[in-house]
Amino acid sequence: MDQARRLRAKTETPPTTIAFASGKGGVGKTNVCVNTAIGLVELGKRVLIVDLDIGMANVHILLNASRSRTMMDSVKARIPLAASVQKGVHGVDILHGGSGLDELVQFSHADMQFFMRELEVLTEYDYVLFDMGAGATDTSLQFIEGCDEMFLILTPEPTSLMDGYAYTKLVHRQSPDLPLGVIVNRAQSGEEALQCFERMEVACEQFLKKSIRFLGYLPDDATVRRAVIAQVPFYHLDRKSDISWRLERILTTLTGTPPKPRHFMDRLMGNLKRQWNRV
Ligand SMILES: Nc1ncnc2c1ncn2[C@@H]1O[C@H](COP(=O)(O)OP(=O)(O)OP(=O)(O)O)[C@@H](O)[C@H]1O
Ligand SMILES: [Mg+2]
Repeated sequence: MDQARRLRAKTETPPTTIAFASGKGGVGKTNVCVNTAIGLVELGKRVLIVDLDIGMANVHILLNASRSRTMMDSVKARIPLAASVQKGVHGVDILHGGSGLDELVQFSHADMQFFMRELEVLTEYDYVLFDMGAGATDTSLQFIEGCDEMFLILTPEPTSLMDGYAYTKLVHRQSPDLPLGVIVNRAQSGEEALQCFERMEVACEQFLKKSIRFLGYLPDDATVRRAVIAQVPFYHLDRKSDISWRLERILTTLTGTPPKPRHFMDRLMGNLKRQWNRV
């Protein structure tokens, strides 16, 4: 590391680092992570996504970004990570985990030290979001331990809850003081989301003596499928959708910044749509 970068790393406020994780696969981690990043960029934050779904690397597909040098290439060749970051994809910077590099899924101690040291110099970001792969490996638990907070993505299905709790238990064993936030994805209603969170909360308090916080929920919304197919983040594809509105609420909780007031017509349309859905 050169002198100037070292100095910057020391003086600048470190980024907030968040791991998006789940016990069960396919619950929406990547979609939630990517759209949270987009939302943070729109709030004027500088954001890096580190795609740690090693072997899958789906972030670039959701954002229709071409592949660049991966984190694995960097770590292997000891190339500064900053040189491998793909800049400004919908305003977000991305560092790809890499695919087909199974032999590196388990970082060596030296690899991990290099990587962590390099991440420290990425102080130009306000937020670094890690999109974790499904399930826990020693490596993924190490990444999570280094973060400021873990966002556990749950869906209201019992399997997601059980796997989410099992995952939390593993993380808790390794990092008992790590703050844990929950986002309930694909909920049919706010009530269902809250019930799901409360089940998790009771289990964590009772068996792990751990408090967790509710960050909000995202509805099951056809906008997501359309967005995935169009390779555009749902937050950009349809800002008036219920899911984008809910994401704004999560962003408010996350940043403490009140959302921009929605235009009266947007609010009205949203209300009508909800009313219509109830009929
Ligand atoms: N809120 C939602 N409403 C409707 N469909 C959704 C929602 N969230 C996710 N999906 C669907 O679920 C699929 C899986 O989402 P995603 O790839 O984000 O999950 P993941 O947890 O990252 O999966 P993996 O464990 O494989 O990394 C998406 O392609 C999308 O079709
Ligand atoms: Mg994923």
